[in-house]
Amino acid sequence: MEDVKTAVIGGSGVYKQSFIKDEREINVDTKFGPVTVKQGIYNGGIVYFMARHGGGHTVPPHLVNYRANIAALKKLGVDAVLSTAAVGTLRHDMPPGSIVIIDQFIDFTKQRALTFYEGEEGFVVHIDFSEPYCPEIRSAMLKAGTKVGQQLIDGGCYICSEGPRLETPAEIGMFKNWGADVVGMTNVPEVILAREAGLCYATIALPTNYAAGITAEPVRHEEVLETMENNRPELERLLAACIDEIKPGHYCKCKDAGKYWPKE
Ligand code: HPA
Repeated sequence: MEDVKTAVIGGSGVYKQSFIKDEREINVDTKFGPVTVKQGIYNGGIVYFMARHGGGHTVPPHLVNYRANIAALKKLGVDAVLSTAAVGTLRHDMPPGSIVIIDQFIDFTKQRALTFYEGEEGFVVHIDFSEPYCPEIRSAMLKAGTKVGQQLIDGGCYICSEGPRLETPAEIGMFKNWGADVVGMTNVPEVILAREAGLCYATIALPTNYAAGITAEPVRHEEVLETMENNRPELERLLAACIDEIKPGHYCKCKDAGKYWPKE
């Protein structure tokens, strides 16, 4: 059986992974625009790395070309995507510095392209999202955490706000009532598009700050970057261990959702 081709999508504060060797930049053309991806080797297998906000963190969350990014990974033959997301936390038992393997999301975005399927195919596509994140990749992340001695939080609900402004305390209060645990600006539509493309996708959420109104402190973007920088070595170890845990031929149903993907 062929090796799994893995990709890491790095969010805020995650612009490279030192365990990926022999990296070279490749450009992939997609229907949605060109994408630059790094291709490298880890443990004898191909690993791709993509900086979601661009290498120099120049693309704001609402302007990321999510469709091009996922279409590029699909074109490269990737099957498993590990993404990282800096998040604000709504819970004192998921404090800044903890690591949450989220298992649900709520979409509070407002103006993004949320699907690959705009009706051009001549039929309408409704994909099941009962299990939004790939159970096999989530389980690999949790096993990897145990292997590298990190305590990960198993499960959490991510709410995606539109950004780029941060939330008001009133919004965060409402999100809390809705059952959200952490808030970020990028997981939607990335998770949706990955499933539509039939890719296995899961996210390591890294709380960097208490969300607005959870404590009396205002939210500072520098705090987000500082916490991510402090977490960097731990995150790299976790990602590498997770790639080791992903076995070919996993038993999830993510691939089935890709059955509508147009043949190129
Ligand atoms: N809100 C939204 N996105 C974020 C936050 C936040 O508080 N922290 C890091 N990303």
